[in-house]
Amino acid sequence: MTGGSFSRVGVVGLGTMGAGIAEVLARGGLAVVGIEVDQDALERGRGHLEKSTGRAVKRGKLTEDAQREILGRVTLSTDFADLADCDLVIEAVPERLELKRKVFATLDGVCRADAVLATNTSSLSVTDIAVTTNRPTKIVGVHFFNPAPVMKLVEVIRTVLTEPEAVDRVAALVKDLGKTPVTIGDRAGFVANRLLFGYLNQAAGMLESGHATRDDIDTAMTAGAGLPMGPFTLMDLIGLDTCLEVLEAIHAETRDRRHAPSPLLRELVTAGLLGRKTGRGFYDHGTPKDEAAA
Ligand code: 3HC
Repeated sequence: MTGGSFSRVGVVGLGTMGAGIAEVLARGGLAVVGIEVDQDALERGRGHLEKSTGRAVKRGKLTEDAQREILGRVTLSTDFADLADCDLVIEAVPERLELKRKVFATLDGVCRADAVLATNTSSLSVTDIAVTTNRPTKIVGVHFFNPAPVMKLVEVIRTVLTEPEAVDRVAALVKDLGKTPVTIGDRAGFVANRLLFGYLNQAAGMLESGHATRDDIDTAMTAGAGLPMGPFTLMDLIGLDTCLEVLEAIHAETRDRRHAPSPLLRELVTAGLLGRKTGRGFYDHGTPKDEAAA
């Protein structure tokens, strides 16, 4: 049993990231309550969980019994009241500040007064979210990377209001889950995205200017720099809409032109070509993400 001082954890939003986080927690032996907005979204969340753990079974990394146990630890619901007994809730809804503030106001009302509330935001201010609640000392950022079941890093974000105990407890949980926490202040892009997205944006600019082809840029960075994926493969994995949001947030804070989103990226997002999740981004994936990744 892992989880440190937490034993029952809620996850709000079961899209790619939320479902991945729920899987990590359930694999760590914690009881998980997954919340979605309606029954259809809940079924999609269940699908993510079944597919991801099923993939591990197919690869011989998990027995069917272990998969059943993991899935058995996850309760799915559309009712926020089911989070009342959780000692930690991680929010992973879309990156819209008003939506996140609404979710946190609801969480503040239903969760125990001593529960820690965390946001998995990749680009918004944790402080902006914290001040919506009556417990800003218990609000942290907990930023997982995609795909959450695989990537080791979790950035734990403290605001000027967060109590050290909440940060320490969340960092201890991250370690218990077999991941590596780094603790960071509340600045757009935190550390990893702040460094990574300047590079990704520059790759899009290079492609747009005709400096090199998509495939040659990707090959240069895998075969030459030893990265697991080239920038265009990675942006398609992350989702081009998310890439644009992250760049806009960092650019708004820094005004550094390296983060001014490439017009090509913006054009693809406007066209609805968002990467693997829609079947096409910089690459044509043929089928939407889940089937492609299965
Ligand atoms: N969900 C669950 N598990 C997955 C997965 C997914 N979507 N994709 C791959 N995996 C697992 C596989 O099952 C396999 O597990 P195993 O070793 O236990 O059998 C392992 O990952 C390796 O998978 P593959 O052999 O199929 O493929 P690769 O070796 O090419 O690895 C990768 C895939 C792990 C995605 C690797 O290419 C990689 O690390 N890419 C870079 C990803 C990255 O940089 N992510 C960060 C993006 S930035 C971000 O998320 C921040 C946000 O705020 C935007």
